[in-house]
Amino acid sequence: MDARPIRSSRLELVSLGPDVLDRLLDRRREEVEAVLGAEIPEEWPDEHDSRFLRRRLDQMRGDPESQPWLVRALVLDETGRMVGHAGFHGPPGTNGPGLPDAVEVGYTVFDRFRGSGYATEAVRALVAWARERQVGTIVASVAPGNEPSLAIVRKLGFVQTGEQWDEEDGLELVFRLDGAAST
Ligand SMILES: CC(C)(COP(=O)(O)OP(=O)(O)OC[C@H]1O[C@@H](n2cnc3c(N)ncnc32)[C@H](O)[C@@H]1OP(=O)(O)O)[C@@H](O)C(=O)NCCC(=O)NCCS
Repeated sequence: MDARPIRSSRLELVSLGPDVLDRLLDRRREEVEAVLGAEIPEEWPDEHDSRFLRRRLDQMRGDPESQPWLVRALVLDETGRMVGHAGFHGPPGTNGPGLPDAVEVGYTVFDRFRGSGYATEAVRALVAWARERQVGTIVASVAPGNEPSLAIVRKLGFVQTGEQWDEEDGLELVFRLDGAAST
């Protein structure tokens, strides 16, 4: 398993393993900051993200090898601050439309850090990392009113292929980025 950080020009995408997720869910933020060497916003994880991290932790417990495909902290080189998180829903084959070899990307940039291109940069780095691991198709599911996220997937060359209903997030537009598309 290769859970080393992924690099982009301004960010390090640091894989969050089970120990770190456990501590985050236990509100032991200072310990996590010491392990990551990054400053984490006081209010994180909120209720929504705690549910999300719990799901990722359960996935990792069920399949420890899935860790590199799951959640990563986005740490800004310049300040050492965590500005958000990004990753895939799971290893190849884990994606909303159920495509056998595809991965689905997910990303969040904390409010105060938005509008600086961090999400775009992180998704680009994740796509390149997946490509190096022979993943052909990347999926993204975006709510129809989520303009910033729609702007990101369109800018990166994703193409809308359908719609789906998500238990938590409601209606989502499903996008795909296939093999040869440039990012
Ligand atoms: C979506 C999200 C990750 C974007 O993070 P970010 O770091 O601000 O994103 P970026 O700066 O890389 O790109 C945002 C793009 O949206 C555009 N944008 C922002 N608000 C917009 C709006 N109201 N209408 C149209 N475009 C908009 C920006 O101009 C930018 O595009 P550009 O680089 O071509 O100018 C962030 O808003 C977020 O965390 N939202 C909540 C979680 C979420 O929705 N995640 C995605 C789930 S699919």
